[in-house]
Amino acid sequence: MDKLIISGGCTLNGEIRISGAKNAALPILAASLLSETPVVIGNIPHLHDITTTMELLGGMGVQLVVDEKMNIEVDSSSINRFYAPYDVVKTMRASILVLGPLVARFGQANVSLPGGCAIGTRPVNLHLEGLTRMGAELSVEKGYIKARAGRLKGCRLMLDQITVTGTENLMMAAVLAEGKTVIENAALEPEVVDLANFLNAMGARIEGAGTNVLEIQGVESLSADGLRYDILPDRIETGTYLVAAAMTGGHVKLKNVRPDILDAVLDKLEEAGADIQVAEDSIELDMKGKRPRSVSIRTAPYPAFPTDMQAQLTAMNAIADGVGIMTETVFENRFMHVQEMQRMGANIRMESNTAICTGVPRLTGAPVMATDLRASASLVLAGLVAEGETVVDRIYHIDRGYECIEEKLAQLGAVIRRVPH
Ligand code: UD1
Repeated sequence: MDKLIISGGCTLNGEIRISGAKNAALPILAASLLSETPVVIGNIPHLHDITTTMELLGGMGVQLVVDEKMNIEVDSSSINRFYAPYDVVKTMRASILVLGPLVARFGQANVSLPGGCAIGTRPVNLHLEGLTRMGAELSVEKGYIKARAGRLKGCRLMLDQITVTGTENLMMAAVLAEGKTVIENAALEPEVVDLANFLNAMGARIEGAGTNVLEIQGVESLSADGLRYDILPDRIETGTYLVAAAMTGGHVKLKNVRPDILDAVLDKLEEAGADIQVAEDSIELDMKGKRPRSVSIRTAPYPAFPTDMQAQLTAMNAIADGVGIMTETVFENRFMHVQEMQRMGANIRMESNTAICTGVPRLTGAPVMATDLRASASLVLAGLVAEGETVVDRIYHIDRGYECIEEKLAQLGAVIRRVPH
């Protein structure tokens, strides 16, 4: 397993390009199962989770052609297995996203149930209840969801809880259902909107994406007809580099971004003392060498502060001036990075799902590791401002969600290198 070694103390300066959003690419690749004809998807990030998704689709008999720019042509006309094995699903929970398309188009699926997860129990009951309401017959046998269905039937679905992949799975199922489906309390995340735009470009009839009520008029079939669709930029990768720059007192410009979907994060960075200038597809952050002020956050579904940025803000608060209070409301066990940051000298006290962080002027480098993607990234950020060397182990988590993180940080002036284990 590779490690990242970071020598702290550099100020980040310069320009980098942000990659396509992992959390939009995964459902859109799954949605390509719904198309009768090949579709080309662009701005795909070069990530481990994408490779895993390609393996998953390839294992079903789907033809995938990748060009040197990471455009992927997906042709699902040759699919001959409707199977997502445990070995794949256990490494990437988002594999569950093939369930809705498989049931809707082929009337069958055999998808491993995702197990426990480092950041909480993360059940998929709402995905399964919704598909059942649409007429699928589901059973769980030996850890696998076995599904059978004729043509699904549109219906009214009221989600008990806002769920991103749940909304996506049900939306993908509903596009081919007979009649109209209404999904209430739907997720508003920009990645859900990107998926809806992709499906509509293939002939789906989805209205209300980006609001909490989706109305989907089912159609007989979807076809890409030479469609090429570019994935939206990754708002979490964008936020991560902005926080990194703010923590180091730096000045960066991020290109290929969508500032309009980052309001909650940009507000907090301004509160921390950053000067932020946005253009249509770029964000410039200038901290002018200052130490950030602590900020308090409460994570919640979009458009509130994203849970996927909580760990990075914890790293910033660890060295900020003042006391920051961070409350996690989306996942029950998402503070695994705190113990590691404490080992680097952070002053953080936990009270159930709230972290109370009193900033210290400086952290000290240490060997650390984390058990999930964003927590691992937050330890890299902590390493950037720590005295001496920080060794971040188990970085396969980072490779799942950050394209070339060490190269991008090095381009901004960080002293960071990857060592193979
Ligand atoms: C997605 C994102 C993930 C992000 C999360 C919250 C992808 C691939 N992943 O994960 O990066 O952290 O949204 O923004 O897009 N829940 C249930 N029953 C269900 C489904 C969810 O109780 O059937 C609960 C979960 O346990 C959690 C909450 O709902 O407490 C939100 O989870 P959800 O939005 O489903 O997260 P994911 O879609 O898995």
